Amino acid sequence: MKKIAVLTSGGDAPGMNAGIRAVVRTAIFHGLEVVGVRRGYDGLMRGDFIPMDSHSVSDIIQRGGTILKTARSEGFRTKEGMLEAKSRIEEAGIEGMVLIGGDGTFKGAKDFSEISGIHSMGIPGTIDNDLYGTDYTIGYDTALNTVIEAVDKIRDTAASHQRLFFIEVMGRDAGFIALNSGLAAGAEDILIPEARSSIDDVIKRIEAGRKRNKTSFIIIVAEGDDPGGAYEIAKQVNEKYHYLESRVTVIGHMQRGGNPTCFDRILASRLAVAATEGLIAGRKNEMAGLINNQIVFTPFSKTHKHLVDINEGLLNIAHMLST
Ligand code: F6P
Repeated sequence: MKKIAVLTSGGDAPGMNAGIRAVVRTAIFHGLEVVGVRRGYDGLMRGDFIPMDSHSVSDIIQRGGTILKTARSEGFRTKEGMLEAKSRIEEAGIEGMVLIGGDGTFKGAKDFSEISGIHSMGIPGTIDNDLYGTDYTIGYDTALNTVIEAVDKIRDTAASHQRLFFIEVMGRDAGFIALNSGLAAGAEDILIPEARSSIDDVIKRIEAGRKRNKTSFIIIVAEGDDPGGAYEIAKQVNEKYHYLESRVTVIGHMQRGGNPTCFDRILASRLAVAATEGLIAGRKNEMAGLINNQIVFTPFSKTHKHLVDINEGLLNIAHMLST
């Protein structure tokens, strides 16, 4: 193998740049040429390639976002789009790819390898932590820290005004960010799609808190918990419960930005080295993940998010400790 490509795809996540840096420098260390693909699979179809040298990834390990840009490509889902990408890759002499992205990225890569015969290795990059085959995805730890910083600030005003706050966090259809940020921020309740709570349950927990002289409450709502999000939950609670003034905060895309934490930088570096060296050694169509602090390779066919289990025991801990 003489030349490989690296790309980022799907939602950006803090730590993707640390991953790009490690792919480029690992490839150069092993004597390979590397190109960066701009704007994910869209750029692959258009041949939007840039040569990467060691200097091109200087001063990025600490930066959020992705210097290669990213996209959620519709065109690449079609056979025509994939054949277009195959032609561009072959013209450029690229023999393998390292992909940083989420479950849609790896599903696309699996289909692409079947159609084109061009193989890749993957690195899990998403704040949602919803990939099977790794305990942590790149960006998740940074997103959690962003959320708890925001919740700590909201706690100050909630306590001062004796209010009930519903705070919506990201995660698409998974509750990892909500569950773990809620536990870390001492939220009075946490609503996640994996463990449904009724509105009456939510009210019961608020009432139990008031009996213990609590005067303000933070309820973390995963965006995937209810189709209407935190606004809808707040509306339903407010229809039945009138003793506290309430407010809703949607933290939103702030959760995707910012400098990656130390954990995410190290995770991205380790996984990128493993994926790149795996590709050079002949591995294909697998994601490098970290399980019990060991590198584990999982085929793209198994990285689906629906296989991931959340630790519901943490919800019981959060409830017990917030009483
Ligand atoms: O997958 C990452 C994520 O931030 C999800 O948590 C969220 O549901 C989604 O992307 C938002 O996507 P977009 O930036 O396209 O609105």
